[in-house]
Amino acid sequence: MRRKRSDELPRYVSDHESASFQWPRRSRLFAALGVLILLYLFVLRPSGPRDDDPNILRINWSNYAYSLYATDSATLCHAVLVFDALARYGSRADRVLFYPDYWDTRIRDSKDRDSQLLVMARDKYNVKLQPGKLLSVEGRAGEERSYTGTWDKSVTKFMAFSLAYYDRVIALDSDITLLQSLDELFLLPPTPIAMPRAYWYDTRPWPLTSLLMVIKPSLEEFDNFKKMLVGGASDELVRANVYDMELVNERFADSAMVLPHRPYSLLSGEFRRHNHSAYLGSSSETWDANKVYKEAKLVHFSDWPLPKPWIMWPQEGLAEIQPDCEGSKEGGCREREIWKGLYSDFRQRRKDVCRYLSVPAPEWWRIKGDGGKTAASMNETQGTHHEAPHAEVEPAQGDQTVVHET
Ligand SMILES: *[C@@H]1O[C@H](CO)[C@@H](O)[C@H](O)[C@H]1NC(C)=O
Ligand SMILES: *[C@@H]1O[C@H](CO)[C@@H](O)[C@H](O)[C@H]1NC(C)=O
Ligand SMILES: *[C@@H]1O[C@H](CO)[C@@H](O)[C@H](O)[C@H]1NC(C)=O
Repeated sequence: MRRKRSDELPRYVSDHESASFQWPRRSRLFAALGVLILLYLFVLRPSGPRDDDPNILRINWSNYAYSLYATDSATLCHAVLVFDALARYGSRADRVLFYPDYWDTRIRDSKDRDSQLLVMARDKYNVKLQPGKLLSVEGRAGEERSYTGTWDKSVTKFMAFSLAYYDRVIALDSDITLLQSLDELFLLPPTPIAMPRAYWYDTRPWPLTSLLMVIKPSLEEFDNFKKMLVGGASDELVRANVYDMELVNERFADSAMVLPHRPYSLLSGEFRRHNHSAYLGSSSETWDANKVYKEAKLVHFSDWPLPKPWIMWPQEGLAEIQPDCEGSKEGGCREREIWKGLYSDFRQRRKDVCRYLSVPAPEWWRIKGDGGKTAASMNETQGTHHEAPHAEVEPAQGDQTVVHET
């Protein structure tokens, strides 16, 4: 059928107007514009969220918190570094720090770093300070399962379960670098706990890693965990500082929500590996160090037997362990740059924020000789008890943003 031309369409004309009257072109344009404006105003206008609109997710960030813990000066500094990162990334949730109740916030002199850092956490990063008795577990070994006198304090992370006035808490270790905020994890569907898997394990299924735990705080769970600690644990687990991981797997292996380890728990050692299929979750995807680094949100330092980043590298150890760039002796590769960059960034922030320098390097032959697995070499490469040299100046308090009421 032939489509009618517009001048053949019926026209609406008033009595006293001639049959040939047409709205002037310009008026028609204005009328059309008017309709569009009305449509915009009443239907499409992007209005601010209305309180009664069920389609709008209203987030009350004070129901969520990040939880870190400090057992000594080094872990205090590293927890502050995580809070500093969260502040830089504009995270909106609360921040909570557990630490021993015999510490105080009275700065006695310029060397009193612990108090300085606690005050900085409270005033500069709005951290809610939670002094208390920390959790620990003692090792037991032998036929009699007698107590061995070795202690693991990393179970202190379970204190996060006691924060029952929050809907959800993200508990983190502090031997990490946060590369992005994790705020989106507060909005996961309800679950008692969400954790990534330890993708670096050989055994399948990979266990869950307690490096990052998105938990629903519960005093009942907290009491259960505390009870488990009283009886001690296998000395082997205690020495390796993995008892906390053992416990969460025992309790939640079958009920936890599994977070993708990519991008929530990348190991620094991934950049030294030759086979990346475990991290990538695919054997066909091509490894791209830049891409992996860019998408990662949390990097855990793990290059055993090389020391953790607060301890300096023995030079021979570095030469032996660093990413080998496919064997090329000259020049470098992106893997090595990124890997070294992660360490130097951590050390720089430790110096800038905490005014701590690195602990002197242990002797390589000693830590390498025994495979790094004995208590002594664990202490030398992973330990946080070492006295670290102070950088000249005090922690920068000058740029505090919070003004105190007197
Ligand atoms: C957010 O939650 C806190 C704690 O539950 C509550 O005190 C506060 O009134 C809430 N704020 C809003 C705007 O709902
Ligand atoms: C890489 O590791 C996976 C297991 O994680 C294995 O199935 C695969 O064969 C390995 N690829 C190569 C090239 O060795
Ligand atoms: C670890 O080593 C440091 C320094 O060598 C020492 O002061 C500390 O007591 C050791 N700690 C443990 C638990 O062995």
